[in-house]
Amino acid sequence: MQITNDIRYVGVNDHRVDLFEGQYKVPRGMAYNSYVILDEKVAVMDTVDRHFTHEWLDNLAAVLGERKPDYLIVQHMEPDHSANVAKFLETYPKAQVVGNAKTFAMIENFFGKDCADRRVVVENGGALSLGRHTLTFVFAPMVHWPEVMLTYDSADKVLFSADAFGKFGALDEAEPWEDEARRYYIGIVGKYGAQVQAVLSKAAALEIAAICPLHGPVLTENLSHYLKLYDLWSSYQPEEAGILIAYTSVYGHTARAVETLAEKLKKAGCPKVVLRDLARSDPALCVADAFRYSKLVLATTTYNAEIYPFMREFLDHLVERGFKRRTVGLIENGSWAPLAAKLMREKLAACKDLAFCETVVHIKSA
Ligand code: FEO
Repeated sequence: MQITNDIRYVGVNDHRVDLFEGQYKVPRGMAYNSYVILDEKVAVMDTVDRHFTHEWLDNLAAVLGERKPDYLIVQHMEPDHSANVAKFLETYPKAQVVGNAKTFAMIENFFGKDCADRRVVVENGGALSLGRHTLTFVFAPMVHWPEVMLTYDSADKVLFSADAFGKFGALDEAEPWEDEARRYYIGIVGKYGAQVQAVLSKAAALEIAAICPLHGPVLTENLSHYLKLYDLWSSYQPEEAGILIAYTSVYGHTARAVETLAEKLKKAGCPKVVLRDLARSDPALCVADAFRYSKLVLATTTYNAEIYPFMREFLDHLVERGFKRRTVGLIENGSWAPLAAKLMREKLAACKDLAFCETVVHIKSA
């Protein structure tokens, strides 16, 4: 795949992965992107997951022809992108690795000292000339690991964005970008909104014609749409007016109650009401929905004097990701000694700028 005259795609599609990062369902697989910049010097941008060593090296060889790479630029050391650093250096013994001080500490931990020796250490804002292309490195700590850096090519106005602007799903699957990019962003980078905001403000100063992420498609059109969504997500603003009703139900009574509530809300003119049974829905989708909509209703029971497990886990995910700036309503169902509403409120005390509905609904059994 040709991105520009000099930039080629050499990544791979993974349709075998069951859980990305060991926890996220990816029904349409995953793409591990890698790129080559062909200039007087040749640079390879990142490697791919360990299961695709040969496919990736073949892709690379096909693009290189008789040429050999001068640099491997490591933007991110998470193994879905870095697993083949040692293999690359073995295959191309004259190539050097470009990274920052944190990158090389991690390379040493993953691959040993020898790999870390062939290094070009760059600083934040530092540049590397390939000939016509000059690459500038923009550090993006915690988007999504501390060593992450983005790379801007001023010749073709391409931003290599590491994990940012990525999504779940292989590139040979057709699907809209937004839903799987939201689920990916909120799940994986959601906690680091402040750091993403810092990167967005640096990106605002750049003229960008294409964004080349490490997952998902290369973005070349309507870039303001993607930048705006990233701005909303990372500033914890709701994406749309609507109500997520997240619930658990042991014998169906709480389910009946929230279905009644959803009907009433729709009749009252609520623009969008989404019901999610937390025991039977993809947890990452439920968390992404909580960030997507402006309001959240939580309905659950007490269990072992605690919040019912699926709800407890859901709230842990929200707290962990710094959920904030939403209106929350609480419903509890208990046949004796109900505690769920009180415990949910206590758990959410860790979240900033939540407005709680004054009325808490208490259901007694049915
Ligand atoms: Fe796609 Fe943070 O690795």
